[in-house]
Amino acid sequence: MEHVFPTYSRFPFDLVNGHDVYLDDNHGKTYLDFTSGIGVCSFGYSNEIIQQSVEEQIKKVWHISNLYESELQDKVADQLCNDDQLAFFCNSGTEANEAAFKLARKASGKSTVIAFNNGFHGRTYGSMSLTGNPDIRRGFEPLVPDIIFADYNDDAAINLINSDVAAVILEVIQGEGGVNNGNKSWLQGIQKACHDNGVILIIDEVQTGIGRTGTKFAFEQFNLDPDIITSAKALGNGTPIGAMIGKKKFAKFFGPGTHGTTFGGNKISLAAATGVLQQLTPEFLDGVQNKSKTVWDYLNNEIAPLNSVTDISGLGLMIGIHIDDKFPVGDVISQLQDAGLLTLSAKYNTLRLLPPLVMSEEELLNGLEKIKLVLK
Ligand SMILES: Cc1ncc(COP(=O)(O)O)c(C=O)c1O
Repeated sequence: MEHVFPTYSRFPFDLVNGHDVYLDDNHGKTYLDFTSGIGVCSFGYSNEIIQQSVEEQIKKVWHISNLYESELQDKVADQLCNDDQLAFFCNSGTEANEAAFKLARKASGKSTVIAFNNGFHGRTYGSMSLTGNPDIRRGFEPLVPDIIFADYNDDAAINLINSDVAAVILEVIQGEGGVNNGNKSWLQGIQKACHDNGVILIIDEVQTGIGRTGTKFAFEQFNLDPDIITSAKALGNGTPIGAMIGKKKFAKFFGPGTHGTTFGGNKISLAAATGVLQQLTPEFLDGVQNKSKTVWDYLNNEIAPLNSVTDISGLGLMIGIHIDDKFPVGDVISQLQDAGLLTLSAKYNTLRLLPPLVMSEEELLNGLEKIKLVLK
C-alpha cells in the first residue's frame, strides 16, 4: 500500500469476498467473522433483502443532492424516529456526532459539553474533541474549547451538570474505550441531572445501536430518553450512512442553511438502510437476545474462568473479553486469524467481539470455542 497514508497498521491480507457470515482473503483462506467490519455488517455479507434494495436503487438513480424532496429519506426517518423526533442524514458516526454537537450548542445558546474519559465519538475536530482518549487527540491541538471530561460511571460527573452546561454526550457501553458497561442507576442519574438543569442529553449509539445489544438502541435497556441520538455503522450494513435523531423541539435551530452535506442521505445508502430497518423487527431482536443468552452462558462458564481472562463485559452481541496484560491482545487476534476467526481489539488489552447479528448459534459457539482454545 505504497501510496496510501499509513494511518492504519493493517493485517497482511485483503478480504476480497464475503458470503453469509464468512470472508475469504486473497490467499484463498476463509474466516468466520466476529467483527462485522467493526460493527457494521450486522446482516452479514449476502443479505438478499438489502442486496435487492440496493440493486433496484442503483438501476434508478444514485445521487441527487439534498435540494429536492426525498421519499427514501422520509421512509428511513419514519422507521428511525418516534412521533416526537426528526432525523438528519449524514455519512458516518463522526458526522452524526458533529451534527449533534453543533445542534446542542445552537439550541442551548451555551458552549460547555461534558464528555467522558474512554469515550469515543469520532475523528473530525468536533467529535475528536469530545473523545476521551488523549492518544487520539495528541498533536491535533488546539481542539474545540469548552469540553469537560469526567470519569465514566463516577457520581462526580453528575455533580458537574448545572444550568451553564449545553450538553452531555455518552455511550451507554463505551466501545472503542474497552467495552465498558454504563451502570444503569448512574446513567439515570446523569439523565435526571440533565433534565433538572435543562441540559441536552446526547447518546451516541453509533456502535451500540441497530440491534447490536438486542434492542434497536441500547439505551432502551437502561430506561433512558435522550434528547439526541446518533447512529451510523450498522444502519447501512456497509454503505456509508449516519443519522442524528433529535427531538422535534430542535427543528427551529436546524433550519435551511444551518447545516448540510452533499452525500448525506444519498439514495444508495438509504436503500440499504430500508433493507436493514425492515428486518430489524421485534422478532429479529428477540432472536438476537436468545442467541446472546447462549453466548453469555458460554462466556461465563467456559471463558471467564480461564487464567488469561480478567473480566468479560458488554451486552447482547457486543462483547469485551479482558485479557491479562501478559498476553497482548494483538497476539491473540493473530492466532485466532490462523485458526480462521476474525476478531477485534479495544482499549486496555480487550478482545472485542462484534459478530454479525444473523450468525447462527452453532457458528457463534464454534467461534467461541476457537477463542477458548487460544486463550487457554
Ligand atoms: C461510539 C462511536 N461513535 C462514533 C464513531 C465514529 O464513527 P465513524 O467511524 O463512522 O466516523 C465510532 C466508531 O467506531 C464509535 O464507535
